[in-house]
Amino acid sequence: MTTETLHYTIPGLDEGAARKTIDLLQSRLHATNDLQLTLKHVHWNVVGPHFIAVHQMIDPQVDAVRAMADALAERIATLGGAPRGTPGALVEEREWNDYSIGRATTQEHLAALDVTYQGVIGSYREAIKTLDDLDLVTQDILIGQTEQLELFHWFVRAHLEDQGGQLQTSGEATEAGAARAARSD
Ligand SMILES: [Fe+2]
Repeated sequence: MTTETLHYTIPGLDEGAARKTIDLLQSRLHATNDLQLTLKHVHWNVVGPHFIAVHQMIDPQVDAVRAMADALAERIATLGGAPRGTPGALVEEREWNDYSIGRATTQEHLAALDVTYQGVIGSYREAIKTLDDLDLVTQDILIGQTEQLELFHWFVRAHLEDQGGQLQTSGEATEAGAARAARSD
């Protein structure tokens, strides 16, 4: 929870609502900073016959997710808060583990990214619901970002579908489990 004093916030928003909104934005800022680094890590570590397609598919996602982090951080500042964007703060405050796959095939990384995107999008949708009673302008920012994240999630999942439309990795809850399921196919 934000403990710093807000010297000002947005007109029409009380300080309690502003603080809660800043906390939600901070959690999204950590999620997008983590995701853009993770996507770049995948860009560097994919191998296999579909290397170039996946390697090149990921860079526009990195750029878009970095822009999301920027918008979130600037919204925190607009609300009178101080965005925490350092690696140390991210590692200390995040509620998930580091991406666990190193050098691996495109299918393994895409399977792991499917799980990663599920986590990020699920938490975005929870934040959107909470913002219903706090700040609709911030909610609008998160809705726009969720639309983009869901599109990128589809790009990832389209590679994991078989001809019957089934996902190779459906039911896998961890990155490592999803990567294993993709490997055995
Ligand atoms: Fe590159």
